[in-house]
Amino acid sequence: MKFDLPGRRVEWFPSLDSTMRVAARLARESCPSGTVVGADEQTAGMGRAGHSWHSEPEAGLYVSIVLRLALSPESLPLVMLALGLATRDAIADVTGLAPDLRWPNDVLLGEKKCAGILAQMEGDAVIAGIGINVGHASFPPEIAPLATSLRMAGASVSRDEVLGPLVDSVDASCSVLKERGPETICKAFGLASSYVHGRRVRVDQDGIILEGVTRGLDPFGFLLLRQDNGTVTKILAGGVRPV
Ligand code: BTN
Repeated sequence: MKFDLPGRRVEWFPSLDSTMRVAARLARESCPSGTVVGADEQTAGMGRAGHSWHSEPEAGLYVSIVLRLALSPESLPLVMLALGLATRDAIADVTGLAPDLRWPNDVLLGEKKCAGILAQMEGDAVIAGIGINVGHASFPPEIAPLATSLRMAGASVSRDEVLGPLVDSVDASCSVLKERGPETICKAFGLASSYVHGRRVRVDQDGIILEGVTRGLDPFGFLLLRQDNGTVTKILAGGVRPV
């Protein structure tokens, strides 16, 4: 399939190992901000924390967007939140569904993930890797308890219908971060996510398990967790799961 977006460089491939690798190369070659690299399938799709991303041919939207935001590297956690909001908003607009956000940026329908986001620096560019499960009818047994698709949630939309709103939404959300600042993004994320305030969760930080109740975001976009002994811990990374 060939996807075009007016006024934007789009490089689309029938098959790639990962769109992240090609987008990083284009970023090094000075491609314009907003360049989209997409693939109908990925043979080595990358997820966060060294996980792989299930990339069934033509079932999902697998894209990496090169963003030249002129923000400091310390803003990456906030960019992650902005990308989560953008993806959630695009899915909501196109499908009428109401996805939740699990910090830092898993997009959920019910308790299952329908989209995942990876953000990596390449020089001064951010490579935003976004995977949306659009038309999957099922998932392999090992991820079936955790994953869903727009189709499985009752929305019959095509990848084509999602791509345009997604890139527009990414632009809009990154503009909010740049122009209105971290506080606006953190507030919007807190409103959109059932995980940010008062949710009992378990967090796996590099094998150390913390449990407690969420207490909002700090000004840099990190999740605050109040453990049962009263300590408030800043969560820098790690898998957040409901208890
Ligand atoms: C996560 O673990 O939740 C992040 C998943 C990110 C998947 C997308 S699919 C397009 C881009 N290319 C990749 O190899 N990964 C990202």
